[in-house]
Amino acid sequence: MTDVAIIGAGPAGLTLANLLQRNGISCVVLEARDRSYVEERQRAGILDHYGSEIFAAAGLAEAVIAGAPREQFLELRYEGEPHLFDGPAHAGGRSGVLVPQQLLVRRLLTTFLAGGGDLRFATPVDRINIKENRMVYAGGELTASYIAGCDGFHGVSRRSIPAAALTTYSFDHGIGWYTVLADAPPPRHALMGISEHGFAAQFGRGPKASRFYLQYDLGAGDPREWPDDHTWDQLRLRLGDPALPTGPITDREIVEMRSFVTEPMAYANLFLAGDAAHIITPMGAKGMNLALADAGVLATALTAALHDGDDAALRSYSDTCLRRTWDYQEFSRWFTEMVHDAAAAEDPFRRRLAKARFDRLWTNPKAADWFADMMAGTALI
Ligand code: APR
Repeated sequence: MTDVAIIGAGPAGLTLANLLQRNGISCVVLEARDRSYVEERQRAGILDHYGSEIFAAAGLAEAVIAGAPREQFLELRYEGEPHLFDGPAHAGGRSGVLVPQQLLVRRLLTTFLAGGGDLRFATPVDRINIKENRMVYAGGELTASYIAGCDGFHGVSRRSIPAAALTTYSFDHGIGWYTVLADAPPPRHALMGISEHGFAAQFGRGPKASRFYLQYDLGAGDPREWPDDHTWDQLRLRLGDPALPTGPITDREIVEMRSFVTEPMAYANLFLAGDAAHIITPMGAKGMNLALADAGVLATALTAALHDGDDAALRSYSDTCLRRTWDYQEFSRWFTEMVHDAAAAEDPFRRRLAKARFDRLWTNPKAADWFADMMAGTALI
């Protein structure tokens, strides 16, 4: 029997595994997929300041974020007019770190395995017997004092909790997002275009590539079928840059603009962390950071319970994490409205509100500080 069984080796599960390992707590990670799948999944790209502090506090900064560039400016173009937001200047020097998820996951994997960690790939958990703290998988089973459900939105953990014990909230933001990866030079700064033609964004992906995002009308066909010329025309228009350098498009995807929260995030000795408990839109880049924050709180709470017999932090785990989850959900929605409502042709009042929200960032230093603070991430404990 191990102290902690962790289901899932995504950002939440791997962060928890490393933090527990540092604290001398025995754990086993059960991951459904093989190593290359886990290492190559590309999703998030920004570790916020609070997220990076979790690794720094555990002495893992060097292993996990060494060499990664810091986030500096965010350029917001309103109908083509540039505004440069200096986040670190408004957040007391705190800034995010640009770490693609694959790199973060690869480093967390390597560190955990180098420390003698027990991680079993290709081991999908079929069933959890919560009363007996037992997980069943093809060819075996595992019993643990505590179970961490870090198995993402479609995992088995949340489904194992009696439905009557959970309240779930889901929200569809009613916005379509289309993203393309292209061999086009990255912008000077992370770039978002706000315009009556719809939202667009461009972020660097290495020295020669960019990832672009475009809002599209739900119900008006699949944007993955747009001719490339149309995609580039729309990007030029919304980013206000007629000379935007283009390049071959190498990937086209639809991004879901959906939010979901489960309450509570714990049942008996099963604790949900990351996407298993909540999903959030990409606006504000908080998905991975929420997963890491949950893992940080859970590692501290499990350590207190297992080392000192003090389970107070474990009992308040769900409340602690839900406070941040709802705070970030509100921020993500706030940000979503600010940058998309300029295109709300059917609702001129909402359009004006979104413009007022945008203007406040440049006229009220306290509003700018708050925005920068949310971007940097908050401890909230
Ligand atoms: N048994 C074992 N492993 C499972 C099972 C199962 N039954 N079901 C799912 N898994 C594994 C998946 O294969 C995956 O590797 O759990 C892992 C869950 O990882 P993620 O979905 O990445 O979830 P999480 O760690 O919470 O990170 C989520 O990170 O990618 C960013 O922004 C993104 O919000 C997202 C956050």
